[in-house]
Amino acid sequence: MRITMIGSGYVGLVSGACLADFGHDVVCVDKDEDKIAALQAGRIPIFEPGLDSLVAGNVKAGRLSFTTDLAGGVEGAEVIFIAVGTPARRGDGHADLSFVHEAARTIAPLLKDFTVVVTKSTVPVGTGDEIEKIIKKANPAADVAVVSNPEFLREGAAIDDFRRPDRIVVGLSDERAEAVMTEVYRPLYLNQAPILFTGRRTAELIKYAGNAFLAMKITFINEIADLCEQTGANVRQVAQGIGLDKRIGSKFLHAGPGYGGSCFPKDTVALAKTAQDFGSPLRLVETTVAVNTARKRSIARKIVAACGGDVSEKKIAILGLTFKPNTDDMRESPALTIIQALQDAGAEISAYDPEGMAHARTMMENVDFASDPYDAAKDAEALVIITEWNAFRAMDFKRLKQVMKTPLLVDLRNIYRKDEVKGHGFAYVGVGRPT
Ligand code: UGA
Repeated sequence: MRITMIGSGYVGLVSGACLADFGHDVVCVDKDEDKIAALQAGRIPIFEPGLDSLVAGNVKAGRLSFTTDLAGGVEGAEVIFIAVGTPARRGDGHADLSFVHEAARTIAPLLKDFTVVVTKSTVPVGTGDEIEKIIKKANPAADVAVVSNPEFLREGAAIDDFRRPDRIVVGLSDERAEAVMTEVYRPLYLNQAPILFTGRRTAELIKYAGNAFLAMKITFINEIADLCEQTGANVRQVAQGIGLDKRIGSKFLHAGPGYGGSCFPKDTVALAKTAQDFGSPLRLVETTVAVNTARKRSIARKIVAACGGDVSEKKIAILGLTFKPNTDDMRESPALTIIQALQDAGAEISAYDPEGMAHARTMMENVDFASDPYDAAKDAEALVIITEWNAFRAMDFKRLKQVMKTPLLVDLRNIYRKDEVKGHGFAYVGVGRPT
């Protein structure tokens, strides 16, 4: 099957490479010339485990190519995916659809035979209708079906998520498009992955509702963690205790510094805005956004309290800057707010992250970027784990104690056992656990 992917960012690139790996003939298009030049030269512009070899293998096999030439890339395509960015619009938090609309306008005159145009970008309910209108206006004769096929990939585990999805959601109303989409996902379909065919608006809403629910789940356990701290209970055991109930499930119940990333913060706000516009407000989602925003600064206050209430001119070492491990993505990372708040309180910051420092350098000021955890910890009065990279899970505490001014570990991801850390002569502060 001949597939074109418009947008070679995170979603487009991972989806394009995985679809090529299924045996489809995939052309990834992007207007960013530097990005396409890098991809053509075999360089992957993002950090995602396994993506470089997947891309290289499929390019070599002749199934995957990259171009800035949209007209050429769309030529002969049976399916055109739109996987461009939908950032938050400045000012009101609505999803900015200008790239999606532009893609629709550009492909409209190029459509010849029956073509399925699929939105993979996260778009508000009703966007499929708008895309259809744009295409029909520019090319009334176009034989086109507009489909919604949201993606549920997690950064850091994207290839695995694509190959072993919990479900594939496809929103459409055209029987020919249903046959085409079944063909696109045939290998997964044969693997028993459930494909849920719904109406287009329903599919668009499933994406937002899913992300909002997960964001709410995290925020719920974060508030329970605060309550645990006040009552002497242990949030890990509470999470285990409720997660064993199959109706609740154990995933996304890890308390921490608040959710971040390119999806949850933006999608929760956009969904809340859409719901307000439709006169059907989602108060739980609105509250989730507010609680998560406030949490990042309250976590900074927690660090200050662990340091005796004053961090002025004290050096605090931060481990982990990205919004989660196995990515170099710093977007909406809790580390950004926490570090700023600590600096506002007078602290000096040293930091280390295995993959995020190149981006972090462009986003943070007055941070001393270290070469490893021990270099970061030198002369520090507290070591704070913000992101749970595997590299931080088995640190040499003897070495840390030798270099630190005060042996204090603030473990915002609960990756250590309190007794173990205390056994090394450290003070330990976790999240939602008795100290
Ligand atoms: C999220 C969803 O999990 C994907 O299903 C979805 O496709 C994607 O958004 C998207 O819309 O594109 P992602 O943003 O890559 O994926 O990251 P997650 O693994 O969901 O983590 C998001 C944030 O929640 C991170 O800051 C993470 O540290 C935090 N989190 C997650 C917790 O604090 N606790 C948890 O138990 C789980």
